[in-house]
Amino acid sequence: MSKAEAPLIDPSEPFVVPRHVAIIMDGNGRWAAARGLPRTEGHRRGVEALRKTVRAAGELGISFLTIFSFSSENWSRPASEIRDLMGLLRRFIRNDLAELHQSRVRVRVIGQRNDLADDIRRLLEEAEELTRDNDGLTLVVAFNYGARQEIARAAERIASEVAAGRLAPEAVTADLIARHLDAPDLPDPDLIIRTSGEQRLSNFLLWQAAYSELVFVPIYWPDFDRSALEDAIGEYRRRERRFGGLVAQAGS
Ligand code: IPE
Ligand code: IPE
Ligand code: MG
Repeated sequence: MSKAEAPLIDPSEPFVVPRHVAIIMDGNGRWAAARGLPRTEGHRRGVEALRKTVRAAGELGISFLTIFSFSSENWSRPASEIRDLMGLLRRFIRNDLAELHQSRVRVRVIGQRNDLADDIRRLLEEAEELTRDNDGLTLVVAFNYGARQEIARAAERIASEVAAGRLAPEAVTADLIARHLDAPDLPDPDLIIRTSGEQRLSNFLLWQAAYSELVFVPIYWPDFDRSALEDAIGEYRRRERRFGGLVAQAGS
C-alpha cells in the first residue's frame, strides 16, 4: 500500500483522542480569493466544514470542541463582512440547533455577550438552554471572544470581591483566576489547531493554552474535514507533554 493509501489510523491500536480540542478556523477569505469567489462564499463553506468537524469530533470521542468563530478584533472588518458573519451565525443556530440537540451535543458560549445584537444573544442563550442536559460532545462557541478581554473580565469580578471585603488579596491565585473565566468548569484544551498556515493565537484562549499542544495546518478552513482532524490528532499523539516536569524514562 502506498503512503497515500495507508489508513490514517492503525485499527489495531486504540485511538487515544485528546479530551479537549480547540480550533482557530482561519482562511475562509483566502479560500474564496483563490477561487475568484467573494469572501462571503468562503465563510459559507466554512460553516459546512464546521458541521463536518463537529460530527467527526463526536464520532472520534472528543469530549470538548471549542471553535473560534468571531474574535473581539473582527469588529474591525468592513460592516458588510460583519453582517455576513452575524447572518451565518444566526442561520447556523436556527438550522442546526435541532440536529445538534438530537445528537446530544451540549452547546456553550464564551466571549462578551453584552455588545451583541439582542436576537443573537437570545439565540446563543436558547442554544445553551436547550442543550444544557445533553451528555454528548460539548461544543464551545467562542463568539465575540478575546482572551485578554476574558482575563480582564475575570480580574474585574475578582477586584469587586476584594473591594467589597469578601476576598483577601492573598487569595488571588492562578486557580482563582481560572475559576472566574467564561467557562470555568471546562478543562484546558489539550490540542489547539489553527488552519490556513498562520502560526499565532490571535487572542484565543491565552490563559487556557498554557500547556496546550499547538498544531498548525496549511489548509484553509473550508477544506478541513475528518481526515484533517485525524491528521492533527496524529501529530498531537507524537508530541511529548511534560507540563514542566520530566518524562519517566524506561527503567528509571
Ligand atoms: C476565518 O477566516 C473566519 C473569521 C475570522 C471569522 P478569515 O475571514 O480570517 O479568512 P482569511 O484569514 O482572511 O483568509
Ligand atoms: C482569528 O482569525 C479569529 C477567528 C478565527 C475567528 P483572524 O483571521 O481574525 O486572525 P488574524 O487577524 O489573522 O490574526
Ligand atoms: Mg483570517
